[in-house]
Amino acid sequence: MQIPKITKNDFIMVLTGAGISAESGIKTFRDSDGLWENHRVEDVATPEGFIKDPKLVWKFYKERYIQALEVNPNIGHHALVDIENMYQDNFLLVTQNVDGLHTIAGSQRVIEMHGRLQTCFCTKCKSKYFLHDIDLEQEIPPCNSCGKPLRPDIVWFGEMPYQMDEIYEALDKTTVFIAIGTSGNVYPAAYFITQARQNGAITIGVNLAKPENSSYIDYFFQGKAGEVLPELVKNLFI
Ligand code: OAD
Repeated sequence: MQIPKITKNDFIMVLTGAGISAESGIKTFRDSDGLWENHRVEDVATPEGFIKDPKLVWKFYKERYIQALEVNPNIGHHALVDIENMYQDNFLLVTQNVDGLHTIAGSQRVIEMHGRLQTCFCTKCKSKYFLHDIDLEQEIPPCNSCGKPLRPDIVWFGEMPYQMDEIYEALDKTTVFIAIGTSGNVYPAAYFITQARQNGAITIGVNLAKPENSSYIDYFFQGKAGEVLPELVKNLFI
């Protein structure tokens, strides 16, 4: 399987999912029977779930936040920093992950389309806060400005992912699209590869197993992101 060499004239978009953080010790979603750390997605990842039981939802995301503080980026995250360093403004990393590990690894051109564990915002006035600045002993932390409840800065099911205009703008100029560690189940992210391919991009997949949308992948590399990506960096990019 001979992939054309990727040159400095290419524009590279990388989409990552939970699989890239697996080797850092964070569980993926669909490998755990549709449960997220023993919770139903409807209970902890929907606006309705938050309205029904905000204490439970806050407890859940505080735990995820603390878990993310305890883990480190892995070789896969660092390989993506290497690609960004080579391609600079001809590179965009879009992640569905909320753990912040890409940023900690040093990625700069990164869009966290499903939000992030490290921040929260007011349900009324939308003021933003870092979790490290608020008292996490409170079951439902209130806003300092208006006193209304804060909520995690996570894009829940039924909500619009962040920075979609920027993503679609970048997709229009993408010539190489690489999907890493994502099951291709959740839209709109699962659709990006289709769009890139329709625009004429070559598409590459890196995953332990073929994802749902694998018919859109031109070149598939089966394996752990932390093992496959350093090889790709060595062999594919010039
Ligand atoms: P999934 O859990 O659905 O998929 C993870 C994928 O990573 C699977 O296809 C695994 O085969 C693969 N995988 C596991 N370990 C890997 C490794 N070491 N190297 C490479 N691949 C590996 O996670 P996502 O596709 O990210 O949404 O899920 C998408 C969204 O659904 C998430 O962002 C989340 C979830 O519900 C929200 O929270 C809004």
